[in-house]
Amino acid sequence: MNAMAEAVFQRCINPDCAATHGVTEVLTACRACGELLDVVYDWERQAVPKKLSDFERKYATRRNPLHFSGVWRFKELLNFVPDDKVLTIGEGQTLLRPEHEAARYVGLPQGTVFLQYEGLNPSGSFKDNGMTAGFSHARMTGARRVACASTGNTSASLAAFAAATRGWPHERRLEALVFVGSGRIALGKLSQSLDYGARTLQLAGYFDDAMKRVREASQALGIYLVNSVNPFRLEGQKTIMYRILEALNWDVPDWIVVPGGNLGNSSAFAKAFQELKALELIPRVPRLAVVNAAGANTLHRIYNELGVRWNGGRYDRQTVAQFYAQMDAEKREAHTVASAIEINRPVNLPKCLRALEWMNGVVLETTDQEILDAKAVIGRDGIGCEPASAASVAGLKRLVERQVITKGERVACIITGHQLKAAHTTVSYHSLHGEDLIHELGKYGVRENKYANHPLLVKNDLHEILRVLENPGGGSWDA
Ligand code: F0G
Repeated sequence: MNAMAEAVFQRCINPDCAATHGVTEVLTACRACGELLDVVYDWERQAVPKKLSDFERKYATRRNPLHFSGVWRFKELLNFVPDDKVLTIGEGQTLLRPEHEAARYVGLPQGTVFLQYEGLNPSGSFKDNGMTAGFSHARMTGARRVACASTGNTSASLAAFAAATRGWPHERRLEALVFVGSGRIALGKLSQSLDYGARTLQLAGYFDDAMKRVREASQALGIYLVNSVNPFRLEGQKTIMYRILEALNWDVPDWIVVPGGNLGNSSAFAKAFQELKALELIPRVPRLAVVNAAGANTLHRIYNELGVRWNGGRYDRQTVAQFYAQMDAEKREAHTVASAIEINRPVNLPKCLRALEWMNGVVLETTDQEILDAKAVIGRDGIGCEPASAASVAGLKRLVERQVITKGERVACIITGHQLKAAHTTVSYHSLHGEDLIHELGKYGVRENKYANHPLLVKNDLHEILRVLENPGGGSWDA
């Protein structure tokens, strides 16, 4: 069809194909060539504000759920859905804060390192930004069942949105189906999907297996898939960038630093800036740093070691295919303490390559030791995050050491998920010593906990308690 006549349509990201599809079609790949899809707007036919600060008018009408939502108050920039089909649970009420300990840790001046805390979302991660968009499109297309594969946060978010429809008439309700790998999902996340009533399939396998199977099952049964191969989900995640601009009084920071897993965020962020620049709502685009965990570093290897570039859409597909073939031949499995990003086959790889071109980006990897140290430092700032989120600050530290990011530049790190998602790892890091620490975390190469805040173990005895309190370093069962 010629969807281009519409005000919003889907378009293949491969410029040699560029096939278009209608906005109500449910697709996770181009029907002509199989590449990923974008949501594209004919901006001439959208009522986009003349300047970004015009969005502030909506602050005064926060009782309107579409103005309260930190996603939909920017609806003019993701206007693919009628208002009455939007499903919001109050997502996107998140904060950008300049952080003291994080700045000191990475070696940048105070007031230049900002943490964008997406753990504040209703289900505790940035996924809610995308899920509200995915569910709204699902409603628009008449979907009844919604599915995802997940390392835990997508499933928690999906389950929360589906639960919000439970009180609705039967024919409008959305049923949640979740595929997770076995053993690797953080308990906080699994508990959410179970608690919110999602049908939860624990597959004997890893995330990449769950991803493959959920695609097959959704296709076979006509179920709406909300993984980030869904282009509408990424539209919601663009708004994380709008909120960073908003918090900086609509100024553009110099860098956005984000952990890379399935590479949905990085893809969405670049699209956000690329569109704002084209609309002349911002004067320039920040640079992007995508941080892999060393145990799940497909992007790092493909980008830095094999040198694959987006190259205007003509990226070296053969090298990528060979990389995956070799990974399969070697039975290489992702392995990192940051279980949220324990992903070897990032579904948005092509879009992320494009994002790196659009934002003059860099890719790097960090060890699990660096991730847990950075996580403890972020915690000292009073912002709790799960391990994957801390890859951003760990990556920033490396980039400052390499002088890729220099003093005076303003950096926003995305803190993608809440601390309570993976409390076990946090408590292990802070409370274990020596052999016990290595027993618990050594399998990730974590051998020390320099930034630990050890609990003080004391006998139930006032004299003992006073002795410990007067000696700040003291306290142990053996003391
Ligand atoms: N941080 C957290 C806390 C995540 O849960 C994820 C992805 C990422 C970072 C990576 O983001 O995929 O956009 O590069 N979690 C997915 C899930 C895979 O199933 O919850 P990405």
